Order: sequence, then structure tokens, then C-alpha cells
Amino acid sequence: MLNVDKLRHDFPVLEENPKLAYLDNAASTLKPKCVIEAVDEYYTKLGVNVHRGVYKLSYLATDAYEEARSKIADFIHADFEEIVFTRGASAALNLVASSYGMLNLEPGDEVITTELEHHSNCMPWLHVCEQKHATLRYVPLDKEGRITVEAFKSVLTDKTKIVAITYVSNVMGYITPIEEIIKLAHQKGAIVVLDGAQAVPHMPVDVKKLDCDFLAFSGHKLCGPTGIGVLFGKAKLLASMPPVEFGGDMADDVNCYTMTFKDAPYRFETGTPIIASAIGLGKAVEYISSIGLEEIAKYEYFLKQTAIEGLKKIPNIEIYNASAETGIISFNIKGVHPHDAASVFDNNDVCIRAGHHCAQLITKWLKTVGTVRASFYFYNTLEDVEKFVQSVKEAQEFFGTL
Ligand code: ALA
Repeated sequence: MLNVDKLRHDFPVLEENPKLAYLDNAASTLKPKCVIEAVDEYYTKLGVNVHRGVYKLSYLATDAYEEARSKIADFIHADFEEIVFTRGASAALNLVASSYGMLNLEPGDEVITTELEHHSNCMPWLHVCEQKHATLRYVPLDKEGRITVEAFKSVLTDKTKIVAITYVSNVMGYITPIEEIIKLAHQKGAIVVLDGAQAVPHMPVDVKKLDCDFLAFSGHKLCGPTGIGVLFGKAKLLASMPPVEFGGDMADDVNCYTMTFKDAPYRFETGTPIIASAIGLGKAVEYISSIGLEEIAKYEYFLKQTAIEGLKKIPNIEIYNASAETGIISFNIKGVHPHDAASVFDNNDVCIRAGHHCAQLITKWLKTVGTVRASFYFYNTLEDVEKFVQSVKEAQEFFGTL
């Protein structure tokens, strides 16, 4: 079992705000001291650029930056050169669409996606398909809003070139049956782009075992700094892709009318890299690994189930994803706009998210304007769950819906 009381001391925000029930972890997680210190140490002891300086401090900064890449590669069982640092998961997914998608899609080709996608994994494909006259096809969701292998098979064709799909939905918290989907996609010669933003921080993810072609995730959702994300890409795919941004550090040879680029991952990291945040993210994955992702997954699920049991005892609640395997609950108090409900939670120091969660397709599929979403992490407690359930009751009393 996790020693949650001890782990909570690692988080300055929880030390500063002992009454806070922070249940907006799908939006961003809190940052532990070790990550804050790693970022601080870079600025305090190094603070210089990487890859360019011909002096000791710059060599040390380069080592720290590249060591972070190595830790992140180990974290998801990738190879070192398969890790591209990006500004976030959105930037990582946009990079695949703008580079791999623009290069490989032809008119009439098909891209499969789903209504469970975050805007970051549907908008880039909407854009590229429009540009390349390719067709976007949606996996029909089952009655719970899940992606099933059978439904995936119904849209997979010989024309499918790319499957852009979420590993865990940020609204519904469902885990996609991704291993089977990847096998089927590969049998048709299609590649699979996984949005792992809600998976990588919460469960063990092994890109070799999954055999996914690309995986994107953000740093700030796994206890790391903001402004950094990761694109994993299979080495041979990254090597085939053109850069989409040009400038410092990514060039090999530049002439008046011709240019060549460094190999991946550097050809995709234009300009001064996100040095401090990469170092912070390296520390974050070490920290998360030391806790254990299997344990984290089990504990989040336990908290979520306890909260669902509490919600089920309250009348006039619509829970959209009671069967989710992860720590995400999406619900509404019947007759109350999610933003109105959110104000009652805030008064009780319970942080939740309300609205469409940058995933309008699933909100529309649910035929609602938005949902109230609570999302758990390993530092949450049963007291947080109690405060959450109590806030739902108070919201109902306040809005007269009991
Ligand atoms: N994508 C993040 C969320 O689901 C911000 O809240």
C-alpha cells in the first residue's frame, strides 16, 4: 500500500493548504519538492545553454538535459533517440500530424480517430485531412461511450493509414483496448498515434510491449514542470520525418539554397531547448517510478470507486462513466450547470474541473453542455473523497435539486 500521509509531505501546495482536496489531476498534477529543487538547481548551479557552449558549465548542462531524456526513455521502455522533447502533449501530437501526416497522407487515404479524443488529438487530424484530402473516420462508441475492438474493426479498411487514438479518455477515464487495436492497425499497414496524456502518469506504459508507433504525453500531468511534453516515436519513423520548425540547434549544414538537418530527436527540437523543464521532468519520472505505477493505478481506482459509491447514494446525479478503470469521474447534478456546481466545490476547497474539458466531441456525444469532473492521484485521501461527496450534497441543497 502507498504511504499517502508521507507522500503528501512531498508537495508544498498541500503543506501550504492542508484543507485542500485537489481533484483536478487530469488537468495538471501538483509538483513535489524534488522536482522544484531539480529545476532550481539547474538555474542556480548551471543556468547556461546546452549543445553549443565550449566550456564546462555548458557540458554539464548538456549532460543534465540528455540524462533527463535517458530517464524518460527508460520510464516508457523506449530507446534514447526515440524521445523528442516538445512544449507539451498537444505540441507532440501536432508534430506527428504536421510532419508524418503531411508527408504520408494521400487523397483518399483514411485516418481513424474517436469521439473520445481531446482536441489535441482530433483537431490536428481534422486539419491535415482537410489539407491532404484524406478522410477522417470515427470509431462508433458503444452505449457506455467506450471504444471496442469490434467497433474499431468496423472502420478499419485497406485505406487506413493512421490511427490517432486516446489511451485513456480525459473525460470518461476508460482504458482503450489498445494492444489489440495496434495489432489490427499494423496488419493493414497503418501506424498508431497514441495520446498517452492521461495514461503515462497513472499506469505502467511500455512502448515496446504495446508496439505503438507514436506516444505523446505531458510533463505537468505527471508531477513535472509545465511547458514540457514528450513525443515517443519509433526510431525508423522519426528518421523518415521532416522537421516542421527550422532554426537554431537542429541544422546540420546550411547553404544559400540548400540545408540539411541533424538526426532525430534533435531535428525536432528547434531553438534553445526546454532545458530546466526537461531536467525537472527527468526527476519527476524518477519520483513516480519510486512510488510504483501499479500501486498508483490501484489506489486511484480505489478512491474513484469509493467516490462513485458515495455519489450513487445521492439522488438526481447522472454519472457518465461509473465503470471507468481509472481515477476519473464525470457527472452532473441534474438541472445544475456544471460551472454553477463548480462554485460550491470551490467554496469547500475542493478543486474539480467543469465544462467540456477540451473534448467537445464526447460532450456532444453525451448530449450535455459539459460535465463536472473529479480526477484522483496518489496523494489524494479518503478525506478528500468525503469532502467531494459532501460538496455534491451541498450543491444540491444550494440549488434545490435534492
Ligand atoms: N487536458 C487537460 C484536462 O483534461 C487539461 O483537463
